[in-house]
Amino acid sequence: MKTEQDKNIPYKTYLDESELPKSWYNVRADMKNKPAPLLNPATHEVMKAEDLAPVFCDELIKQELDNDTAYFDIPSEILDFYKMYRPSPLIRAYFLEEKLQTPAKIYYKFEGNNTSGSHKLNSAIAQAYYAKKQGLKGVTTETGAGQWGTALSMACSYFDLDCKVYMVKVSYEQKPFRREVMRTYGASVTPSPSMETEIGKKILAAHPGTTGSLGCAISEAVEKATSTPGYRYVLGSVLNQVLLHQSVIGLETKAALDKLGVKADIIIGCAGGGSNLGGLISPFMGEKLRGEADYRIIAVEPASCPSLTRGKYAYDFCDTGMVCPLAKMYTLGHDYIPAPNHAGGLRYHGMSSTLSQLYDDGLMEAVSVPQTKVFEAAEEFARVEGILPAPESSHAIRVAIDEALKCKETGEEKTIVFGLTGTGYFDMVAYEKFHDGLMEDYIPTDAELNESFAKLPKMD
Ligand SMILES: Cc1ncc(COP(=O)(O)O)c(C=O)c1O
Repeated sequence: MKTEQDKNIPYKTYLDESELPKSWYNVRADMKNKPAPLLNPATHEVMKAEDLAPVFCDELIKQELDNDTAYFDIPSEILDFYKMYRPSPLIRAYFLEEKLQTPAKIYYKFEGNNTSGSHKLNSAIAQAYYAKKQGLKGVTTETGAGQWGTALSMACSYFDLDCKVYMVKVSYEQKPFRREVMRTYGASVTPSPSMETEIGKKILAAHPGTTGSLGCAISEAVEKATSTPGYRYVLGSVLNQVLLHQSVIGLETKAALDKLGVKADIIIGCAGGGSNLGGLISPFMGEKLRGEADYRIIAVEPASCPSLTRGKYAYDFCDTGMVCPLAKMYTLGHDYIPAPNHAGGLRYHGMSSTLSQLYDDGLMEAVSVPQTKVFEAAEEFARVEGILPAPESSHAIRVAIDEALKCKETGEEKTIVFGLTGTGYFDMVAYEKFHDGLMEDYIPTDAELNESFAKLPKMD
């Protein structure tokens, strides 16, 4: 179904190294309704830079709190590192289009082309750089499925920083290979909850035998950072600063599309804490906010952890241990522990405050999809496009295929762009379950969600 214009569009568009974005774009600068500020969990007062300083690196706090500066220069040390694996390719999914027999034009931005296997490295290297610049000894973090921990380990070894990772216990046990990649890059990896922290001991006493959650691991990593001199805590998603670093994805995507003379109609990304989606859409959303162009933007989340589609827009704790600041976001409640789902990176109870505000303002849509449908899409994609996608990324593939099939019905030639955030080589147990027909679709009941909403902090 190639048209005249398609003849000039290659399968892969690689920008030149010299075309790498030199600045990150901060979409908050163009938002009329700014994301709500972080609040102190005890006093409910707005957190200021000095309140956040014991937890986060100074420069990252500035980025976190700055709702007005549109562009932040990317330091040359970070640009040098980016050059190892960026610009990443924008791929025209000609084979998928052919397979679906759709008139839609499908493009994907592939972020799995580095050893950590996902987009997480874009922010990991920035956060490690600022920690080093501040003269810190090391950083702590949590990791669920392991992608963020892997990316941060790589970034810390590059800048010779110590890296302590609290890995959700179930993943620590089920994903020994990810764990070993982190150790190869010099990180220490502790299964969470652990007896290393007071909060870990408390959680283990209350829930003996628990296999942990992202929320628990965050609490442990924050406690470790704040109780160890020369350490700070870093987070791989949710925060404004992370979306800022990930804007490199969207800026490259837009530059490549502009070069090809292509205008996107629909932009799709999976949403865990919101970092890849926030990054991918940022320059497009900027145009939308400034009234220069219009796009349909779709966040895709798992039906088992539907924070945007079924959550409440409210202030909530970012972690289970209730030590982190309160963020206003679409949330399922900090106590909500999603059913085991093979897209570990999408099992977070909340969502970025920036994306939550944009969603609440009707500037983007959200859909949730059950995991067997996600794996069907992943397999279909792998067989024609060659790349073995991560389960998280496959949520975006599912909806891109669904939108392309709608175009087949209507005959519309829409241009669909989606984020392919990573590869799935460490997720073969999930693929095995899918192939053996053992994969289940868990969808929480309203009663379960209501129980969790009842524990949201009371705000006056
Ligand atoms: C491959 C991949 N895609 C997507 C995500 C979701 O995270 P975010 O919503 O921050 O992009 C993750 C998180 O671990 C991931 O590993």
